[in-house]
Amino acid sequence: MASSSNKLVFFFLACLFMFTFSDNLVAGDSDKVKLNLYYESLCPFCQDFIVNDLVKIFDSDLYTITDLKLIPFGNAKVSSNLTVTCQHGEEECKLNAIEACAIRAWPNPKLHYTFIRCVENDTKDWTSCVKDSSREKAISDCYNGDLSKKLILGYAKQTLALKPKKQYVPWVTINGEPLFDNYKDFVPQVCKAYKGNAADLPKICNSSALPKCPESKVSKLQVSYADEVKKLLK
Ligand SMILES: *[C@@H]1O[C@H](CO)[C@@H](O)[C@H](O)[C@H]1NC(C)=O
Ligand SMILES: *[C@@H]1O[C@H](CO)[C@@H](O)[C@H](O)[C@H]1NC(C)=O
Ligand SMILES: *[C@@H]1O[C@H](CO)[C@@H](O)[C@H](O)[C@H]1NC(C)=O
Repeated sequence: MASSSNKLVFFFLACLFMFTFSDNLVAGDSDKVKLNLYYESLCPFCQDFIVNDLVKIFDSDLYTITDLKLIPFGNAKVSSNLTVTCQHGEEECKLNAIEACAIRAWPNPKLHYTFIRCVENDTKDWTSCVKDSSREKAISDCYNGDLSKKLILGYAKQTLALKPKKQYVPWVTINGEPLFDNYKDFVPQVCKAYKGNAADLPKICNSSALPKCPESKVSKLQVSYADEVKKLLK
């Protein structure tokens, strides 16, 4: 009798433990702040943002609460025959596709971000950003095959479905809400959006949660509008 009630207690405790433990595991991921960047590979402000600003996520402990998604499509267009036309021409379409392939090949944000940062820092030769030939082949195969087309059309769909609509690139959203021209100041906004356990708040949030300086707001000119060529010609 004693042993069966012990068993019962043990079972109960085991369940309680498992419940608490798994709950914590799940909460960790679902509490992450969704930071999405809608961009195109040859837009100078996107390049600057990727190389010099987004790196703060991985240079600090901000990555522990951030779910970073890069969406390489930007101001490109899809015609009815599914041909993609990019704002900065064929080369941009190519690099968007290469980057889409890298995201697919290395789902870990730190890995694909590191590659994309290297490419965006020097867009002349993406192969110099891969360390080994098997990785280079994986990206080339994806780029030369149907997969890159599918990936880009998927990113097109995500970009065109944005609500509210994207007005320019870089277009940054936090949990789906656009930051508009305040995108460079994303760190305190990620900290503020974090609704998880306060004890898990990254150290970088301590100082950055202070009221932001007005000069960190970028001018409207540091973005690339889809119709900017038309506007200039008028
Ligand atoms: C697709 O449509 C575009 C114009 O919308 C045209 O320039 C292009 O030649 C078409 N491509 C194919 C493969 O039909
Ligand atoms: C960017 O490129 C320059 C010159 O090509 C190089 O010196 C620098 O280390 C690169 N920076 C990053 C972050 O890759
Ligand atoms: C946050 O900053 C305050 C004041 O600068 C400091 O006392 C505190 O220890 C910091 N907390 C963490 C978690 O770094």
